[in-house]
Amino acid sequence: MSDMKTVDLTMDRRDTILNQIRGYVQEKCAGDVTGHDWHHVRRVAALARQLAIAEGADAFICEVAALVHDLVDDKLVSDVAAAMRETLMYLHELGIPNEATRTVANIITTISFKGGQQSPLETKEAMVVQDADRLDAIGAIGIARTFAYGGAKGQSIYNPDIPVRDTMTAVEYRTGPSTSINHFYEKLLKLKSLMNTETAKRLAEARHAFLVTYLDQFMREWNAEV
Ligand code: NI
Repeated sequence: MSDMKTVDLTMDRRDTILNQIRGYVQEKCAGDVTGHDWHHVRRVAALARQLAIAEGADAFICEVAALVHDLVDDKLVSDVAAAMRETLMYLHELGIPNEATRTVANIITTISFKGGQQSPLETKEAMVVQDADRLDAIGAIGIARTFAYGGAKGQSIYNPDIPVRDTMTAVEYRTGPSTSINHFYEKLLKLKSLMNTETAKRLAEARHAFLVTYLDQFMREWNAEV
C-alpha cells in the first residue's frame, strides 16, 4: 500500500478548495432523485473525514474524493471516461497538486460495488472513501435510498417471483431485473463484512442490525402477519 504524502496546501487553501468543490458538485447533482443527490455526497464526505481522522488517512484527499465520487459512477453517467476527464480537469484548475489528483482518480475508479466485482484498493484513502459510501448505503438512510433508487429505475418494492441473484457480472448487476427488497440481499446485507477499516466495521454494526429488523418487520407485514 502506498503511503500518501501530505498535500502541500495551507489549511485555508484546503477549506477554500473544499467549498468550491461542494458548490460544483451540488450543481451537478441538482434534481437527482435516485438517492445520489447532494445530501448523499455531503454525508459521505462527512463520514470520510471522520473515518480518515480515526484511521490516520489523509482527510483532505478523502474528502475531495468523497465529494466527487458519484460524478464518475457508471450508474449515473453514460460516458465514464469523459466524466473522469472533466472532473480531473476541474480539480487541476482548483490548484490541487497532480499527485493528489491522481490519488483521487484512483480512489473514485476503484470504489464502486458493481455486483461485488471488486477491484483491489491501493490506498488507505480509497478504503476510507469506499467505507463512507457503503455506510450511507445501509441503516435508515440506506433503506430510504434503496427505495428511491428502485422507484427511479422503475423497479417494484418487492416481487417474490423475481429471485434474488446470487453471483452476477457488473452488467447483470446494473441491468437485470430486481426489486428493492432483493437489493438488500444482493448488496446491502453484504456490506458490513466488506468494510475495510476497523472504524467503519464498528459503525456498520448498528446500521446493519437496523436492516435486519426492518426486513423482518417488512416480511411480517407482507404476509399480513401483523
Ligand atoms: Ni455514492
